[in-house]
Amino acid sequence: MSSHDFGGLWTAQKLDILREYLEFFPIALGGRFKLVYIDTFAGTGKCTIKTGPDGKETIEGSATIALNVARPFDEYFFIEARRKHVRALRLLKDGHPLGDRVHITHGDARQCLTGVLARHDWKASRGVLFLDPYGLQCTWDMVKAVASTKALDVFFLVSVSGLTRQAATSAAKIDAGKAAALDRFLGTSEWRTALYKPPATLDLFGDEQQLTRDQGTDAIIQFVQERMETTFPMVKPPVVLRSQNGAPLYALFFAVANPHHKARELADKVVKTILNKLR
Ligand SMILES: C[S@@+](CC[C@H](N)C(=O)[O-])C[C@H]1O[C@@H](n2cnc3c(N)ncnc32)[C@H](O)[C@@H]1O
Repeated sequence: MSSHDFGGLWTAQKLDILREYLEFFPIALGGRFKLVYIDTFAGTGKCTIKTGPDGKETIEGSATIALNVARPFDEYFFIEARRKHVRALRLLKDGHPLGDRVHITHGDARQCLTGVLARHDWKASRGVLFLDPYGLQCTWDMVKAVASTKALDVFFLVSVSGLTRQAATSAAKIDAGKAAALDRFLGTSEWRTALYKPPATLDLFGDEQQLTRDQGTDAIIQFVQERMETTFPMVKPPVVLRSQNGAPLYALFFAVANPHHKARELADKVVKTILNKLR
């Protein structure tokens, strides 16, 4: 299988959370629904992470983790844009006892996701969907499409470093490309007023170009949380995944698309325990 080098210890933490939830989900819901696992940025099934200045370790990626849970899902859908990674996923499928449950889509998740979601009757199916891009490759349209199933639980990895790179501290430094990337990712341009404020010394009629964003990451993470809450009936405060020197890199959100209170309560109880281990 081709190697896929990315991430660090935070990648292992993210995948441990996913693994724990995927172990729980089919036990809680199996028998009553068809169960699907959808991996929207599927990778290769393996990842080689940096464990220190010179250290590396190869661990199971999300696709392998999902296939190896004790009580498997009925169907697996992997979407992946990179040809080399798709080849690795095909090898994983061919060599796995559950390979005939696996469907691989080679393409851009931004275009393919709605087609994959449309293959299911969401009244009779439930599932877990993982949105795990490297950076800001997701669009808010994808997030909305997941929510519209009213059936999926979703883990959404949000690149905090990606967002802060686009949302420059000074509003004057946000060019059209950066603004468009933020609009696409967040599904709104309200981040301009929510995140950028005049300096304390400037009166209300001051120069708009002097608007600045707080340098920390709390406000930007809170803004994503609020966006998620406009779209899903339940959203947990994210686990912030940090680099070895403590810098926030990613925020891992968990949301439930099913508005039924029983679905929310069940997911909430379990995911709270899983996420709290890392808070
Ligand atoms: C962070 S990795 C995913 C890792 C995977 N979840 C795992 O645990 O092994 C992101 C993956 O998304 C793929 N990718 C990047 N842009 C994409 C897009 N627009 N559509 C689908 N896949 C994409 C990359 O090739 C890469 O394999």
